[in-house]
Amino acid sequence: MSELDKNALLRIKPPNTQLVGSRIIVCEETTSTNDLALEHGGDGVVYVAERQKTGRGRRGRMWHSAPGRGLWFSVALSGKPEGIAFASTLAVRDALAPWCSLSIKWPNDLLLNGHKVCGILLEHKNARTAVGIGINVLHDAEDFPNELRTKATSLFIELGCRLDRSEILSAVLVQLDRRLLELRHGEYETIRNEWAVACNLLGRRIRAGAIEGQVISIDMGGALILDSPQGAHRLDSGDITILSGV
Ligand code: BTN
Repeated sequence: MSELDKNALLRIKPPNTQLVGSRIIVCEETTSTNDLALEHGGDGVVYVAERQKTGRGRRGRMWHSAPGRGLWFSVALSGKPEGIAFASTLAVRDALAPWCSLSIKWPNDLLLNGHKVCGILLEHKNARTAVGIGINVLHDAEDFPNELRTKATSLFIELGCRLDRSEILSAVLVQLDRRLLELRHGEYETIRNEWAVACNLLGRRIRAGAIEGQVISIDMGGALILDSPQGAHRLDSGDITILSGV
C-alpha cells in the first residue's frame, strides 16, 4: 500500500475538503476496500484499489471490479451516523452532474440511461462505518460478465469518452464531504427529503419479490410504505421493479 503522493496508479489530486480525504491511500490490490476502511480507517480516510479480489455488493452479492476500469473506493467514518446512505447517493449523483445525469434507483443504485453505473455498500464494524462506492468508468461491454451485460453499464459505454478517474474521485469526495458535514450539522431531514424526491417512487406501483403495491410514502429511515392487496407493507431493502406510475 502506498500513500497518495507516491501512487502511480491513479494520479489523485488531494481534494479541498474538511473531512473526507484527510488521507487517501491507494493500493494495487486488496480483498475489498471496505475491509481496509473497517479495519484501519480513521475518520475521513479514503482507500482506493485498482483491483479487488473479493469486491462485494449489497445483499451478499459479489461486486465485479474489473481491474483498472472502475473506481473502487471506500471512505472510513467514525461511528454509525444516520443518513450516510442518502448523503452518499446524492453526492455521487451531484459529482457526476457536469458529465451526465444519473438517476437514483432506490435505495442507492445510480443509473445512467436505465443501466447501473454505480453501487454503494455501507458496512459497520465496531465503531466504524465504511462507505464503499463502485463506479464503472472505463469498461467496454466485454469487461462485464455475461449475466451483467444487460443490467450494468459504464460511463465510457454511455458517454463515449474516457473520463479521468482521478477527476471523478476528487469530485465525489468533495460532494461527499459537503453532504457529510451537512449531516453532522443536523441536516438529516433535508438530505433524506432530497433523496426521497430523487428516488421518484411516490405513487408508483412496484414489485419486490412476491409483494406488489403502490408506494404511498417513504418513512424517515428510507423504507418504502406500500399499499398492497394484503394491506400496508413496509419495505426496508431489496430489489424492486417499477410496474407503473408517474
Ligand atoms: C451494490 O450495488 O451492490 C454495492 C456495490 C458496492 C461496490 C463497492 S466497490 C468499493 C467497495 N468495496 C467493495 O467490496 N464494495 C464496495
